[in-house]
Formats: sequence, C-alpha cells, structure tokens
Amino acid sequence: AQGQPCSLERVRKNSSTKKLINSALMNNDFLKRLEPQHMREVVECMYEQTYTQGQLVIKEGEPGNYLYVLAEGLLEVNQNEKLLGQMGPGTAFGELAILYNCKRTATVKAVSQARIWALDRQMFQNIMMATTQARNEKY
Ligand code: CMP
Repeated sequence: AQGQPCSLERVRKNSSTKKLINSALMNNDFLKRLEPQHMREVVECMYEQTYTQGQLVIKEGEPGNYLYVLAEGLLEVNQNEKLLGQMGPGTAFGELAILYNCKRTATVKAVSQARIWALDRQMFQNIMMATTQARNEKY
C-alpha cells in the first residue's frame, strides 16, 4: 500500500554476472534510460530461472509482468507467427510491457535450454519507489 516501506530482495551474484546483466540493460534502447541507481538495484534484485528447450518465456498478446535478461542459451522472437530474430546471452527483453503497460508485443521461445534472470513488475516498482524515497528523504 501507499506510504509503506517496501523491501528490496537482493540476490547474491558474482561480478561477471552483474556485468552481464548491467551491459544487457545498457544495450537496450529503453532500459538504458533508467537512472544509474535504479539500474544498480535491478541488477541486484534479478533472480534466476531456467527454461527448457521449446518452452515459451513470453506469449504475444498477454499481459506482461516480468523483465528478463538472457544469461545462457538461445531464444527466438516471433510476431504473428513470423520470425523476427534470435537473442543470445547478454540480451534484455520483455521491457516493453513493463515500461509501457502494454500487452506483450511478441512471443519469445527458448530454442535451447536457457538460463534467464528475471524481475517482476512489483519488484521493478519497489525499486523505483525505494530509491526515489531515499532521494526525497534528503530534503
Ligand atoms: P514485450 O513486448 O514486453 O514482450 C516481447 C518482447 O520481445 C518485447 O518486450 C521486446 O523485448 C522483444 N521484441 C519485440 N520486438 C522485437 C524485435 N523486432 N526484435 C527483437 N526483440 C523484440
């Protein structure tokens, strides 16, 4: 609820993992505009998921509640059953539905087994609130 402190659950990561996630965020045209402090918290709070070969990570047209960074494996992006491209490790995706509250614009499928870092919408909002609160407390 509004006004309540929100906790940020960080997940321990080694420095090469943090670098991979950070550079994936910086390579994304939308996410690179996040404030550095928000960016750092997103890196800290992402948690690991695995997908099996053929599994859908994102389904076009559905509401989207997660932001992702691919760590390992290969993904395929389709729109209206048309192949848009493939994604390899170090790619951030799923940002559009999170940032703009729109339906998923494409389907993302694991071509191989994939290891993915994820962050849910609630956590994303908590990060935006917590760091903004911390900044406002200075005044
Ligand atoms: P989102 O719409 O939340 O969910 C599907 C994701 O696929 C989308 O965010 C982008 O991250 C990604 N995506 C959309 N269009 C393309 C494209 N043309 N090429 C690569 N990735 C895309």
